[in-house]
Amino acid sequence: MADTLWWQHGIVYQIYPRSFQDSNGDGIGDLEGIRSRLDYLVGLGVDAIWISPFYPSPMADFGYDISDYRGIDPLFGRLEDFDRLLADAHARGLKVILDFVPNHSSDQHPWFHQSRASRDNPKRDWYIWRDPAPDAGPPNNWLANFGGPAWTWDSSTSQYYYHAFLPEQPDLNWRNPDVREAMFDVLRFWLDRGVDGFRVDVIWHLMKDELFRDNPPNPAWHDGMPSIDRLLQVYSCDRPEIHEVVAQLRAVIDGYPDRVLIGEIYLPLERLVAYYGEGLEGAHLPFNFQLIFAAWNAGEIARIVRDYEAALPQGGWPNWVLSNHDQKRIATRVGAAQARIAAMLLLTLRGTPTLYYGSEIGLEDVPIPPGRVQDPWEKNEPGLGFGRDPARTPMPWDGSENAGFSTATPWLPLNPDCEERNVARLSADPASILNLHRRLIALRRSHPALNRGDYVHAHVEGDLYAYERRSGDERLLIGLNFGHRPQRLTLPGDAPEGRLLLSTALDREDEPVHGAADLRAAEGVIIRLA
Ligand code: NOJ
Ligand code: CA
Repeated sequence: MADTLWWQHGIVYQIYPRSFQDSNGDGIGDLEGIRSRLDYLVGLGVDAIWISPFYPSPMADFGYDISDYRGIDPLFGRLEDFDRLLADAHARGLKVILDFVPNHSSDQHPWFHQSRASRDNPKRDWYIWRDPAPDAGPPNNWLANFGGPAWTWDSSTSQYYYHAFLPEQPDLNWRNPDVREAMFDVLRFWLDRGVDGFRVDVIWHLMKDELFRDNPPNPAWHDGMPSIDRLLQVYSCDRPEIHEVVAQLRAVIDGYPDRVLIGEIYLPLERLVAYYGEGLEGAHLPFNFQLIFAAWNAGEIARIVRDYEAALPQGGWPNWVLSNHDQKRIATRVGAAQARIAAMLLLTLRGTPTLYYGSEIGLEDVPIPPGRVQDPWEKNEPGLGFGRDPARTPMPWDGSENAGFSTATPWLPLNPDCEERNVARLSADPASILNLHRRLIALRRSHPALNRGDYVHAHVEGDLYAYERRSGDERLLIGLNFGHRPQRLTLPGDAPEGRLLLSTALDREDEPVHGAADLRAAEGVIIRLA
């Protein structure tokens, strides 16, 4: 079997920096805080951290509105702190992936100040400016992701500018070669400092229709859906020209050894896999979010895995994601018992898993009282459940004040059960979901069948989904019970004997298996076939 690279056999752990660890008592997590928790991550067994944005930002969208691509927001520390974090991570064998946000900057970025200063400013064309429509309204019908129109009127220059997200996040014009060069230089700035790769924010948005045609209405839209979904995003993103840009980003990355390019892409499967590039010159890992939206049952999950495996281009490496800072937490979506099945699924499928901080302790969405709402989406479209604060709450570390996250009141409330659900408590409980993660990760690391082997579909029977992972002579059978009733997992006819390596219940290690294993409700097992 060909050797795999770190971003193929490894595990990525996503850190939302505001919420991981505060080091200076302002209630907001920071780089020094992350650095102080590196040993925890090593102990957990992950290989890389992806840190959501920490660059200078007015924080209209909590760092996804960047006013300087080459610095650190004082809230998070200084460039020296970043360098120290990177060095300490590397010293522990951890890779560091940054969040790169090329689609839009902050409206406070000097580029945008210049761009809006006058129509003949050299930076005018760095953003997307258009004359009003004949009726003086916006140039077309495009909508913004957090509510409202995607065009904002600039009275001093009498044109509209385009923003796929907030008005404070104007879209850069990626048709302008100077913009591309400037952004490639940003990548090199961080690559030269030693970072190991990038997760590229909304990569499928970078190119818009050259003719700015109206998006068609979405016939499936109904009340209660985000207003952006009134239209199908046909012309505002995923344009054919995007793939050339992705290949250019990849070429910059490829100028450095052993780096990774991950793309954030919310698209249907057939369009998603195009982001690998026809000759694999695109993103190494176009994020695969299908499990986030899956109906949680054996048949549906098995179908998703099979279709994804079949759709991957030759040589394209798979990846799986259960949750992130924009989505409901997995334990909230599927419940505490199935969160353990979800962990076993994520960590035994073929392809790179990305683990969202807090998943490993079964953290759930935290209800945010109206007075403490932070997310601009919740503020713009309140009460409909779109707000992302609930999934961004502070990591609870121990039983001390503010769960060890901060000496001050945290920027978002802690989980109400933080006295029981915290890292220290769960570490001490051998059966906890945290220790399940540790065991699963250790097993994945030590078995090539799990971290790089083939995926072989076994069967779906009622609530049971079973598959094999194979490498060389090794065959591991994974059985996941998505239901509330016991299930019998029958071993394959050509390998009827085995040994149980791990159960989600953490109490059946080393059990011999003859012919079949009886799974309890919501139990998952990994069996080594003899
Ligand atoms: C996707 C990011 O994950 C999300 O948090 C952000 O609000 C938007 N892109 C805009 O950058
Ligand atoms: Ca802080």
